[in-house]
Amino acid sequence: MVQDLTYRPIGIFDSGIGGLTVAKAIMHVLPHERIIYFGDTAHLPYGDKSTAAIQAYAVKICDLLIRQQCKVILIACNSASAAAYELVKEYVGSKAKVLNVIDPTVSYISQTYPGKTIGLIGTKQTINSNVYKKKVDELDKEITLKSLATPLLADMIEEGFYNDSISESVIHAYLSNPELQHIQALILGCTHYPLIKKQIEKYYKGNVDVLDASQIVAQNVKAFLEEHHLASDKLVGDHKFYVSDFTRSFEESTRIFFKRQVHLEHYPLWE
Ligand code: DGL
Repeated sequence: MVQDLTYRPIGIFDSGIGGLTVAKAIMHVLPHERIIYFGDTAHLPYGDKSTAAIQAYAVKICDLLIRQQCKVILIACNSASAAAYELVKEYVGSKAKVLNVIDPTVSYISQTYPGKTIGLIGTKQTINSNVYKKKVDELDKEITLKSLATPLLADMIEEGFYNDSISESVIHAYLSNPELQHIQALILGCTHYPLIKKQIEKYYKGNVDVLDASQIVAQNVKAFLEEHHLASDKLVGDHKFYVSDFTRSFEESTRIFFKRQVHLEHYPLWE
């Protein structure tokens, strides 16, 4: 019997466990969708890797997600979305729909902030790729994008430093950078950053909108599934969480990003 396409899972991947913030937001707005999550913990951080390396990892991960019959593959990592989205889309072809975390955010700011100045923070890979700026400029909404690479933030969060004085100092040091002044909104361009959203809002004292991309992306995935008649009407099977390198500490950290612990299965990309 041919399996109903709508009951196939959504594949979500990230360099590690940061993308769980996106998976969590998706499970909240789409409770009937089954998730296959892949965290490439053997190769994190992606933020410091070359475009070619990230592309090679992404293709391997997509092989797994295609074998698992995913109807949609969401690149839940800004660095991988910047480096590998076009290539992955071509590679996957008609086997699954491919989505990224950058396009929904760009589309949201172009509708909400035409003519305004917007800030962006993310990894070195995301910022140096200039992908956000290219996509924003293409939409021709006279938005000025000011961006700053903030490489310490992802590691800081993974080490459990958030909502404390250490994270407050690091956040202050980055956000007071001259490059990020006079902005109306700030895009959190890394899937780790929803965890420090409250602290960033506190820094701006309500004067700057802080945009949590995981919420924007989840709404976008919902609209996409409905538009393409791919939305499931009931949860069939269990969610799965794979990592390419397993340590107990990764499993413990899932609680930070997912608000509950999940069972991680070890799945090496290269045997
Ligand atoms: N999750 C990645 C992103 O959204 C950041 C972490 C990394 O550098 O691997 O860009």
